[in-house]
Amino acid sequence: MNFSRKQFIHHCINTGLFLTVPEFLENCKTNTLSTRNYGQDGKDPIQNAESSGLRTPILKAINVGITAPNPHNTQAWKFRIINDKEMFLYVDEKRILPQTDPPARQIHIGQGTFLEHLKIGASVIGYKTQIALLPEGTYKFQEIGQKPIAKVVLEKDTNIKKDSLYDAVPNRATNRCKYEGEMIQKEEYAKILSLTKPKYSTLKFINDTNSLGTYKEKLKEAFTIETNTFAKHEESRIWFRYNDEEIYDKRDGISLRGNGLSGIKLWIVEKFFLTHGKEVWHSESNKKGGIDIFRDQVESTKALVLFKTIGNSLKDQVQVGMDYARFQLSVTSLDLVMHPMSQILQEYPEMNQLREELEKMEQIQSDEKIQMMVRLGRSDYQFLSPRRNPKSMILGT
Ligand SMILES: Cc1cc2nc3c(=O)[nH]c(=O)nc-3n(C[C@H](O)[C@H](O)[C@H](O)COP(=O)(O)O)c2cc1C
Repeated sequence: MNFSRKQFIHHCINTGLFLTVPEFLENCKTNTLSTRNYGQDGKDPIQNAESSGLRTPILKAINVGITAPNPHNTQAWKFRIINDKEMFLYVDEKRILPQTDPPARQIHIGQGTFLEHLKIGASVIGYKTQIALLPEGTYKFQEIGQKPIAKVVLEKDTNIKKDSLYDAVPNRATNRCKYEGEMIQKEEYAKILSLTKPKYSTLKFINDTNSLGTYKEKLKEAFTIETNTFAKHEESRIWFRYNDEEIYDKRDGISLRGNGLSGIKLWIVEKFFLTHGKEVWHSESNKKGGIDIFRDQVESTKALVLFKTIGNSLKDQVQVGMDYARFQLSVTSLDLVMHPMSQILQEYPEMNQLREELEKMEQIQSDEKIQMMVRLGRSDYQFLSPRRNPKSMILGT
């Protein structure tokens, strides 16, 4: 079959084969590819480290750290290894998202998620983790990547207990499918909280239909603004991987698989609808398609959770990342799934009005910040977005 996109659309119209948004999302029922870390065995990051020659405790812990959730899967991490048990973590300034994340706030949340995963991983190999945040002090945006986020020291500890959240690491993934089944109940949320034990942020849980309605409208509006703001939408294109070859060659970024598509429909969209180039990406039909899919995702929300901090310093951002990482692992361990929807929290002019409306609604005081907003739900879909070879993140190699 060698149709052009135009011929294919004609064929669909003539034969009555229409691809509606709900049909696309049906693919979320299919489990797809399931390796994450670089190397042969990608599912358990410690086993993977052992089989791919990452032998020192710090490299093993790093291999767990990089499985953490992080904005657009850019993996904005670089490491200066001091010795077998110590290293400095820096933001990789080449992998930040200046358009949608102008203060690099979310990128710093992604430093905290990394550190929490690393710490959980270290406990499994018998090490306690000492983390000194911002050991050379805080810094300005222009200095990102020059001063370390953290000095990490692993100490052998014969009494350390394995952090049980490690069991959720191999299967944790951001799930952007249409969620199914019952609403998330207060009791389920209480279980999540008791496993997470958030230290640095206040969490708010919303599951009543009336209140959810107001948030959903705002989330959809924010996504529409972002999609229709060229430079912001263009940033997503740069990090978009169009097919499996690109996903597993670059091993970063976002993709249709990550958005819940697989099987024959994935093939059809890749081949006929979402082809390379700015023209297709920014076309009205593609933008509308994306907004429609987002609408269906939001409408299927089974509860929302907001993470708020009382300050918004770099340290606050890294620390809320630690809470966020534990929260997602707790959610995973209870066979639930989640999806952050950060558009409305972002700090660029086109989003200011909507973000401020939300902040007013939440009675946010001047130094406070809503750092994360996530929907919770149930779904069987699994796609593990790959991570790069950690050796490529080590400075001086
Ligand atoms: C600070 C932060 C903000 C994020 N915001 C969004 C978002 O707005 N929409 C989304 O689909 N995913 C969001 N994510 C999830 C990432 O895209 C996801 O973690 C990354 O692609 C890696 O995929 P994984 O979590 O499945 O491993 C966010 C993650 C973090 C840490």
